[in-house]
Amino acid sequence: MVLPMTEASALSHKQIEDLITESLTARQNSYSPYSKFRVGAALQTVDGRVYQGCNVENAAYGGAVCAERTAFVKAISDGHRRFVAIAVSCDYNNFITPCGICRQFMNEFGKSLEIFFVNDDRTYKRAILEDLLPYAFGPEDHHD
Ligand code: THU
Repeated sequence: MVLPMTEASALSHKQIEDLITESLTARQNSYSPYSKFRVGAALQTVDGRVYQGCNVENAAYGGAVCAERTAFVKAISDGHRRFVAIAVSCDYNNFITPCGICRQFMNEFGKSLEIFFVNDDRTYKRAILEDLLPYAFGPEDHHD
């Protein structure tokens, strides 16, 4: 479900614009010789740090890693666990939404994550992860 633009974001206008810029910058490092589909992501932590990620493909196609997961893995391996938003941009003049694997991966670290789908002209749509992955199986479903 895409949120109406009137619905308030946890981010300021400047933070959104900065996150969009970082996702477009991250796209430049995309390693995508097979799909030729460059994707960039910028992930903001609760303490205001931003991690960039790009998609990284592999000659064995199934080994590809999406931009969103690259950004998450970089941040998590640096010790971050709590995130407020991620912006995702691609090469085509279109909005893309995270794949199913990325939705599940991101859900591990909070279902209220804001996701910005960024177009080439910097326009964007916004959603909350929980709306993209309803009835998710998550960490709270694990019992000892
Ligand atoms: N891809 C991403 O990096 N993020 C998405 O949200 C959708 C797809 C990548 C994976 C692959 O390298 C290429 O785009 C084509 O699917």
